[in-house]
Amino acid sequence: MARRELHDRYFRQAKREGYLARSAYKLIEIDDKRKLIRKGDRVIDLGCAPGSWLQVAAERTGSRGFVVGIDLKPVSGPFARNVRTVVGDFTEIDPADLLDKEGRLANVVLSDMAPNTSGHGDHFMSVRLCEQILDRLPLLLRKGGSFAMKVFEGEAFPPLLERTRQSFHDVKVIKPKATRDVSREVFVTAKRYKPPVIEPDDRADESAGAPPPPAATPSTGRGDEPPPPPPGWFDPPAPSGNGSDPERTGS
Ligand SMILES: C[S@@+](CC[C@H](N)C(=O)[O-])C[C@H]1O[C@@H](n2cnc3c(N)ncnc32)[C@H](O)[C@@H]1O
Repeated sequence: MARRELHDRYFRQAKREGYLARSAYKLIEIDDKRKLIRKGDRVIDLGCAPGSWLQVAAERTGSRGFVVGIDLKPVSGPFARNVRTVVGDFTEIDPADLLDKEGRLANVVLSDMAPNTSGHGDHFMSVRLCEQILDRLPLLLRKGGSFAMKVFEGEAFPPLLERTRQSFHDVKVIKPKATRDVSREVFVTAKRYKPPVIEPDDRADESAGAPPPPAATPSTGRGDEPPPPPPGWFDPPAPSGNGSDPERTGS
């Protein structure tokens, strides 16, 4: 990355204001515009390294709230006391690992995840990652909750946007000022989540007086049937060695 780019206005501002990456200003602008995070909220941050969205989310949810982030890479704070992190691949972990100790669904799910950029097929990989988030939302986000995810625009973007519209009452696409002009990244922001209604598989059993079959998943996604808390969920993150991470303050 060119030195000129690395030391742009947002990079310098992040250093001055103590944020771990320039991407902090993307979430700040998104949340100022859309008011996704409220005091006391439980927030899940997908692709959280090096941690600037964790910082912003913790500020906005306050000490009564709770923020959990996941990344392939370990992150090291300092973060507020109500921030926890998990190291792993979001597409492979049990979504319950991202809930709080009581197993309650989040009020807000954020994703700044990006596939490893090779310059070839990035758009499709980014859309695929977003689809995997939407697939898992019923196990992460409570009814009425808010959502923002990064995606690289391209030909598969309109169907992704349409799918998001089917799951939320209020969807808007934002390109924050801190996003570099040359980037195709945008953020799909959405409010008032409509989780899918899980129908019993076999209504004949019910009409015959038999008990209804169990739900297909541990939770209906409505926030009233939490799955059991994951073991070791609150374990501290492994030491990260992030001190020399080139992405710090440069994302
Ligand atoms: C642009 S960075 C996020 C910056 C972060 N929002 C911040 O403000 O510090 C994107 C992150 O997504 C992570 N990522 C990509 N795919 C992932 C996956 N499948 N599971 C977890 N993290 C992933 C990458 O490791 C990378 O750290």
